[in-house]
Amino acid sequence: MENVHICEVGPRDGLQNAHHLMPTEAKKAWISALAAAGLREIEVGSFVPPKLIPAMADTAEIVAFARTLKNVKVVALAPNLKGFQRALEAGAHKVTFPVSASRKHSESNVRMTPEQMVEEVRKCAQQPHPGVEIEGAVSTAFGCTLQGEVPEDDVVRIAVALAGFCDFVCLADTVGYANPAQIRRLFRKVRDEIGAKLEAAHLHNTRGLGLANALAAYEEGVRHFDSSMGGLGGCPFAPGASGNVITEDLVFMFESMGVRTGVDFQKLLAARELLVKAIPDEPVYGHTPLAGLPKGFRTAA
Ligand code: COA
Ligand code: ZN
Repeated sequence: MENVHICEVGPRDGLQNAHHLMPTEAKKAWISALAAAGLREIEVGSFVPPKLIPAMADTAEIVAFARTLKNVKVVALAPNLKGFQRALEAGAHKVTFPVSASRKHSESNVRMTPEQMVEEVRKCAQQPHPGVEIEGAVSTAFGCTLQGEVPEDDVVRIAVALAGFCDFVCLADTVGYANPAQIRRLFRKVRDEIGAKLEAAHLHNTRGLGLANALAAYEEGVRHFDSSMGGLGGCPFAPGASGNVITEDLVFMFESMGVRTGVDFQKLLAARELLVKAIPDEPVYGHTPLAGLPKGFRTAA
């Protein structure tokens, strides 16, 4: 058994904010390589209007392709009922909904208030969706570039509402405002209310605290992490948002601590090469890929 579970969100969170479009065939090759590296859950795209985010226009084809890979949970993001229906038709195993705790970000991102968005997710959850998991992601849970401070009570209220009809709830630091003390406090507060339904941490590395925040969440009992290869990522509707916590460095941190991720580092580097080849002008980040693994490094047993 793996000790932590990593969901690779690069093909969705990463490519939605990239300056360059990755061709569909290159996406398929990259996702195959991510799966081959041992990533068992991959958020492969989003079902949003293609006019809004052209990089996600091929998500149905990508979901269908990703379903052919063995042992991969295929995740897609949906912002509304129409997106959810498209995700079900395409065959996603899990659908994640962004529910912003910041009113301003919610209105900018999905053109709904947080309360309206909670109701939209409820409507989706009430549709038949046999075998498909639903995750409510509380976005901007640690602060917002549009609104500034996001009251913790608002985060808790939304998480509690989502836990009423979602399989899982995730807390997302959409714009990289969180610090480790805040991560521990808010995860504890929300867990006190909804228990094991609080599953994942979705962290951005905007101020360089991605790994520190991931470790704080781990110490608080979190075992599911979203991360993005090369540290790509960011919400196009949250000014100042930048990349996710970097998969390569997250894997190195956990494995070197003796915490199993199930990911093979060399194969991860092979996937990174495909990413760089597919969108060569896109900046990619990561300390471990540049420095290499330490001499004598062994993965967690
Ligand atoms: N997929 C494809 N098309 C969709 C859609 C979806 N999920 N939802 C709506 N549309 C279409 C409608 O059919 C309509 O098409 P038409 O103009 O041809 O009639 C058009 O888009 C506008 O629909 P409407 O319901 O009025 O949407 P909106 O303009 O109020 O936008 C959202 C609302 C939620 C669809 C949009 O804000 C959105 O996709 N947000 C997510 C942004 C995102 O991906 N952020 C990053 C990830 S967190
Ligand atoms: Zn994100």
